[in-house]
Amino acid sequence: MDKFLIRGGKQLRGKVVISGAKNSALPCLAATLLTPETVTLHNVPYVKDLITQRRLLEDLGATVLTPELQTHKVTAKNIETFEAPYELVKTMRASVLALGPLLARFGKAKVSLPGGCAIGTRPIDLHLKAFEQLGAVVSLESGDVVARAPKGRLIGSDVNFEKVTVTGTENVMMAAVLAKGKTTIHNAACEPEIEDLAELLNKMGARLKGAGTPTIEIEGVEGLYSAEHTIIPDRIETGTFIVAAAITGGELEITHCQPNHLRAVIEKLRETGVEIEEISQSSLLVKCCAKGLNGKDVTTEPHPHFPTDMQAQYMALMTQATGQSIVTETIFENRFMHVSELFRMGANIQVSGNTAVVHGKTPLSGAPVQASDLRASASLVLAALSAEGETLIDRVYHIDRGYENIVKKLSSVGADIQRITDNLAMTAEENI
Ligand code: UD1
Repeated sequence: MDKFLIRGGKQLRGKVVISGAKNSALPCLAATLLTPETVTLHNVPYVKDLITQRRLLEDLGATVLTPELQTHKVTAKNIETFEAPYELVKTMRASVLALGPLLARFGKAKVSLPGGCAIGTRPIDLHLKAFEQLGAVVSLESGDVVARAPKGRLIGSDVNFEKVTVTGTENVMMAAVLAKGKTTIHNAACEPEIEDLAELLNKMGARLKGAGTPTIEIEGVEGLYSAEHTIIPDRIETGTFIVAAAITGGELEITHCQPNHLRAVIEKLRETGVEIEEISQSSLLVKCCAKGLNGKDVTTEPHPHFPTDMQAQYMALMTQATGQSIVTETIFENRFMHVSELFRMGANIQVSGNTAVVHGKTPLSGAPVQASDLRASASLVLAALSAEGETLIDRVYHIDRGYENIVKKLSSVGADIQRITDNLAMTAEENI
C-alpha cells in the first residue's frame, strides 16, 4: 500500500493550479447516461474516483474516449446492463448516482446498496423515497436496490427532502429531467456542484431552474442530446491549499479556482488571521499570518455554510492557532477519525460527541500515521507539512480518490514529500 513520506517545516511558496471538482465530475459523468448522444466533459480531474466512475459507465456499455487526460467524451448509446455491482459501489459510494439516470432513461436500475463508510452509516433512504415519489417501485433484493418505473417512465411530482442531501438532490434531478410532467424538489442541496450539474443538464436539453436555491423546478422532456461542458474548479482542493499556505507560514498563489464557491471557508480563515487576497475572479494570494493565527470556532453545515469536507483540514490548522477552537460536525456522525492521528503528532484535541475542542498552539512532530478517509488524509498531509521531522502517512489510497497530483503540486511549491510505493521511493517528478 502506498505511503507518503513528508519532512515538515518547509514554507510553501509559488503557484498552484486547481483541478476540476471531483464532486461535480462524478454526477456529470453519470448524467451522460441520460442520452444516446455524445457528451463531452472538460476539466475532469484524473483521480481514482473518476477512474472508477468511468469504469462503471463502460461496464454499463457506454463508450468513453479521453482525447486528453482531463477530457471525457461519453456515448451511452448501447447500454447493455442496468446494474452497478457491489465491487464498484463498495469502493465508491457515488456509484449510486447511476440510479437516477438509468431509471429515467430505461425505466429500470439495479445498484448495490452502499454499506457504511469510515465517516458514518450514510444511508440512501432519501434517494429511494424520492424515486418512489416519482412513481418508481423500489425494492431491496440480496443487497441490491432494484428500482423500476411501472410504465417505463417516471412521473413528475413534488419531492420534499427532510434532510439536505447532495447526491440525493443530484440523483432526483437526473431522474426528473426525463419524467412525464413537472417535478419540484423542496429543501434541495445548494452546493455549487448542483448548479454545475444543472448547467450540463440544461445544455443537454433539460428544462431545469432554481439550482443553487432550496427549490428546484424541472419540466420533464422527451429526450436529451449531445452537449459539451467544463467542470467547475474543486472548492475543497482550493480550501486545502489555502490551509497548506497558512499552516506552513508560506505564500501561495492559487489559480483556476472559483472563490465565490467557498465564501464561508475564506471568511472563516480570514477570521483566524490568514491573509487571503482575491487577485482576480479566479485566483487568490494566501499568506500567513502577520498578525498571528488565532483559534476560532466552526460548525459544519450544508452550503453556503462551512463544508464538512473542510473540517479535518481546518482542525489541522487550528492545532497551530493560539487559543481554543471548538469544531462542531453536524453532517456526518463519525467524522473525527483524524483526531487520534493528529494527537499522535502532538495535537491537543478533546472529542465529545460531535464536538472537538482544539487547544492550540501545540508543536507538531512527525510520526507514523494512518489515513482513514479522503479529507482526513488531507488533514494529516497538512499537519505533516508543518510538523518537525518525518511523517509517514499510510493508506494514501484515500487521498488518491480525490486530490489530483497532490505530491507533484505540493513539491512544486517547496514541500518535501515523496510517495513510497512497494518499498520504492519515487520522486515527485516520476509520480505524475
Ligand atoms: C456529498 C459529497 C461529500 C460531502 C457530502 C456533504 C459527493 C460525491 N460527495 O456526499 O463529499 O461530504 O455531500 O457535503 O458529492 N443522508 C441520509 N439519507 C440519505 C442521504 C443522506 O440520512 O438518503 C444523510 C447522510 O448520512 C449525512 C447527510 O444526510 O448525514 C448529508 O449527506 P449527503 O449530502 O447525502 O452526502 P453525500 O451526497 O453522500
